[in-house]
Amino acid sequence: MVTRLGSRAVWHAATSIRPLFNPSQARTFASTLQREDKRTAIVTGASRGIGKAIALRLAQDGYNLCINDVEANKQGIDQVVSQVKAAGVNSVGAVGDVSDLSQVESVIQKSVKELGPLNTMIANAGIAQVKPLLDLTTEDFERMFRINVFGVQNCYSAAARQIISQGNATADAPCKLLAAASIVAFKPFALLSHYSASKWAVRGLTQAYAMEMAEHHITVNSYAPGIVGTAMWDLIDEELGKKRGNDLGQIIKKGETIKKYTDELIALGRVSVPEDVAKLVSFLAGPDSDYITGQCQVVDGGIIFT
Ligand SMILES: NC(=O)c1ccc[n+]([C@@H]2O[C@H](COP(=O)([O-])OP(=O)(O)OC[C@H]3O[C@@H](n4cnc5c(N)ncnc54)[C@H](O)[C@@H]3O)[C@@H](O)[C@H]2O)c1
Repeated sequence: MVTRLGSRAVWHAATSIRPLFNPSQARTFASTLQREDKRTAIVTGASRGIGKAIALRLAQDGYNLCINDVEANKQGIDQVVSQVKAAGVNSVGAVGDVSDLSQVESVIQKSVKELGPLNTMIANAGIAQVKPLLDLTTEDFERMFRINVFGVQNCYSAAARQIISQGNATADAPCKLLAAASIVAFKPFALLSHYSASKWAVRGLTQAYAMEMAEHHITVNSYAPGIVGTAMWDLIDEELGKKRGNDLGQIIKKGETIKKYTDELIALGRVSVPEDVAKLVSFLAGPDSDYITGQCQVVDGGIIFT
């Protein structure tokens, strides 16, 4: 027999068993600095561009910071470490290729040894390549996924294992995993197809991690920049410009493609700067985003509307 209950009766039954809101669970507001003496973060690909801006912003927020990049950018790592220290926090540089799990583990070990327990991993490192789909080689595809997807998986998994072993993540002060996605994780750009697919994978992996890490009090989110004026976009601008130039039978000057995209695509009418992204990452790494997990947050001046 099926008994029908009015919606109000169901509401009362449910609330009498388990209150929807328990005032004792109310959270207070806490700044990053109030939360603990110091929190530590690793930022990969942080010798320049968006990663560098994130590191400098998190230094301002009071984090001790491990600055990672590849050997070829060691000089940039050292400069960022000095700039971070000048902000009054502790910092260490750690060379390592994120596509290699054992190197990521070494970066984490160095960070923990020099700076203390890990709270936050920011898997920012990534590469781009402009090439028509039908010209892509297996090597092109593999390299893209090795760095942009395996790199994020290596950072997420090794950092999560470290955090769980430390036992420092709690419901009131979760630890955070973050990764660089992109607006192309929502709508691909032509000629950036395998890059776009790699960022869709970052978005998917982030959602899966959010589900499995919740019980460990670790939140997992990604950030999706639009068109940011960094070395990466210098390359994209140049390569897309060559392709458009060939199609139109004209020479497209450096900077013209990025200007075209800015004028046609960005509602706010200006290209992004790395600091735009760093502000979002500061929020996602900080206490004000403790109840956010599994999201891919766009920061693009109004190109993609989610
Ligand atoms: N610039 C943009 O418009 C834009 C837009 C959307 C997303 N993103 C993403 O943001 C992130 C940062 O981009 P950016 O514009 O600062 O690029 P960038 O090229 O200026 O910096 C990327 C950094 O990552 C490092 N790196 C590359 N491969 C690495 C590896 N295997 N191990 C460790 N470090 C490695 C590079 O050496 C470099 O310093 C990337 O993941 C990128 O895909 C950038």
